[in-house]
Amino acid sequence: MKILVTGGAGFIGSAVVRLAVARGHAVVNVDALTYAGCLANVADVADNALYSFEQVDIRDRAALDAVMDTHQPDAIMHLAAESHVDRSIDGPGDFIETNITGTYNMLEAARAYWTAKGKPADFRFHHISTDEVYGSLGETGMFTEETSYDPRSPYSASKAASDHLVRAWHETYGLPVVLTNCSNNYGPYHFPEKLIPVVILNALAGKDIPVYGKGENVRDWLYVEDHADALLLVLEKGALGRSYNIGGENEARNIDLVTTICQILDDKRPKNTKYEDQITFVADRAGHDLRYAIDPGRIRDELGWRPSVTVEEGLEKTVQWYLDNEDWWRALQDRDGVGERLGVKG
Ligand SMILES: NC(=O)c1ccc[n+]([C@@H]2O[C@H](COP(=O)([O-])OP(=O)(O)OC[C@H]3O[C@@H](n4cnc5c(N)ncnc54)[C@H](O)[C@@H]3O)[C@@H](O)[C@H]2O)c1
Repeated sequence: MKILVTGGAGFIGSAVVRLAVARGHAVVNVDALTYAGCLANVADVADNALYSFEQVDIRDRAALDAVMDTHQPDAIMHLAAESHVDRSIDGPGDFIETNITGTYNMLEAARAYWTAKGKPADFRFHHISTDEVYGSLGETGMFTEETSYDPRSPYSASKAASDHLVRAWHETYGLPVVLTNCSNNYGPYHFPEKLIPVVILNALAGKDIPVYGKGENVRDWLYVEDHADALLLVLEKGALGRSYNIGGENEARNIDLVTTICQILDDKRPKNTKYEDQITFVADRAGHDLRYAIDPGRIRDELGWRPSVTVEEGLEKTVQWYLDNEDWWRALQDRDGVGERLGVKG
C-alpha cells in the first residue's frame, strides 16, 4: 500500500513512517518542518526506495493537490498538527490554522483526489487525534468512544473541531474515514519540550525538574511504537466511519512518573545525589485537565490490539534512548521556545 503520512517528521508521525516502511509499505512523508519537525527522526529510512519526502504546508491547498496528483496514495494518515498545549495557550492562532483549516484542506484535497479516481471503496483517510477532546475526568471513570466532547484548551478544542470535520466529510460526502483518539505518547524522538524529555534532559543537566502544580494530574501513557502499530492496524482493519480510542493501559500521576524516571537515571547514570532532589513544583498550567483515562475495550475487542510494553519497560527504553542519542536532542535545544516555560502568557 502507498500511504501519504502528514506530520511524518514529528514524534508520532516519524514512528509511523519508520514502521510502515519496515513493513513494506511505500510512504510519502508530507511535512512543513515547523519548529517541531525534524528529518533526523526519519534518517533511518531516508535512503529507502519506499520512502519519499515532500516539504509542504497543509495550509496550502494547491500544494496538497499537487502532492496527491504526483504520488497517487492508496491511503492518508493525517498526523500533522500543532501539538503542544502550552504553546496553544500563548498563541492559539497557529492551532486554528493548522489543526482546523489544515484538516479541512486535507479533507478537500483527499475528496477531490478520491472522486477523480472513481471513489475507490478501499481508499482510507485516517485522522489521528487525542483523548484531550473528551475534557477532564474526576478520580474515576474512563473515556469511551461515546464520551461527549468537552475540550478545554485551545489545542484540544482545535483537535475536537478537526474530528468533527472528518466525521462530517464521511457522513456528507461518503469519504472513507477512520479516526483514532489516543492518550499521551512517550518514547524515542520525543521533542524536548514535552514532559518526559524535559525531565530526562533537565535531570542530566543538573537543572530543576519542573512539575506543574502538585504533580497530581493523571495521564495514561502509551509507548509511541505501540501507538504506531495500533494506527497501522486501524488503517487496515478499522470499520469505516468508526473511532477507536488507543491507550497504554498505564495510568500514572505526573509526580509518580517523574520519580520513576529519576530512579531509572539513578541506576543508569549514578551521581552523588538523587535525581529526585531536583524536582521543583511550579505554577500550574491554566485550565490543566486533572485526569485522562482511556477505556481500550473497542480496539481490544474488535481489532484484537493491546499495548506490548508496560510503562516501566517503556520508560526504561526511553531513558536509555536519550542517553544513547545525545546528538539528536542537543541539535534541537536551540529551537524556538525549547527550555523555556511556555503557556504563561495567557
Ligand atoms: N504526542 C502525543 O502524546 C499525542 C497524543 C494524542 C494525539 N496526538 C496527535 O498526534 C499527532 C502527532 O503528534 P506529535 O506529538 O507527533 O506532534 P509533533 O508536534 O511532534 O509533530 C507534528 C509534525 O507536524 C508538522 N506540522 C505542523 N504543522 C504543519 C503544517 N501546517 N503543515 C505540515 N506539517 C505540519 C511538524 O513539522 C511536525 O513534524 C497530532 O495530530 C497530535 O494531535 C499526539
